[in-house]
Amino acid sequence: MNYTARTFDLPELKGLSKKQIDVHLALYEGYVKHVNLILDTIKELREKDAEKNAFVINELRRRLPFEFDGMRMHEYYFEQFEKGAEIPDDKSPLRAAADERYGSWDGFMAHVKEVAGTRGIGWVVVYYDPAGRAMHTTWVGDHELGQLAGLPIILAVDLWEHAYMVDYLPAEKKSYVEAFLTNVNWDVPEKRFLEHVT
Ligand SMILES: [Fe+2]
Repeated sequence: MNYTARTFDLPELKGLSKKQIDVHLALYEGYVKHVNLILDTIKELREKDAEKNAFVINELRRRLPFEFDGMRMHEYYFEQFEKGAEIPDDKSPLRAAADERYGSWDGFMAHVKEVAGTRGIGWVVVYYDPAGRAMHTTWVGDHELGQLAGLPIILAVDLWEHAYMVDYLPAEKKSYVEAFLTNVNWDVPEKRFLEHVT
């Protein structure tokens, strides 16, 4: 099987330049390419001599979650900008869940910003756990380290430096997070949330 890089219908963003987004989209396409490359290479090596190539195959399998989650997390990321910024209204179930978990929408935003301050490269990920009926806002290292098994992703904030260093200095990460949150079309996280809330 082969994955194809998605295209995103992105509006002009506030505080994130077209150059920044284009550089980032090219990186996303690299992840898609490498997912396909790993899957194809494992298949070839197994067909040639699975036993003799076991060590290499094992290492490729270890590498796959980095490339796969790199691909998928960027898809979560870019689609959040499609159709332009929208804030959830008072009737939003996502806003109600955020109010319950974080006290208010502003409390939710403050929490996302706090987790975004984690040192290192990775992601802030907001999940919804249907079993626990709760939102969780956590830090994921690289793309795959610390993901909460099976929980639907509601919001994904890329905190790798490549996500902002065309437009911001490393010390300006907070400004990037502000810009990111300004541009989110919350209809997208809301739709993800409604698919899983019971
Ligand atoms: Fe990224």
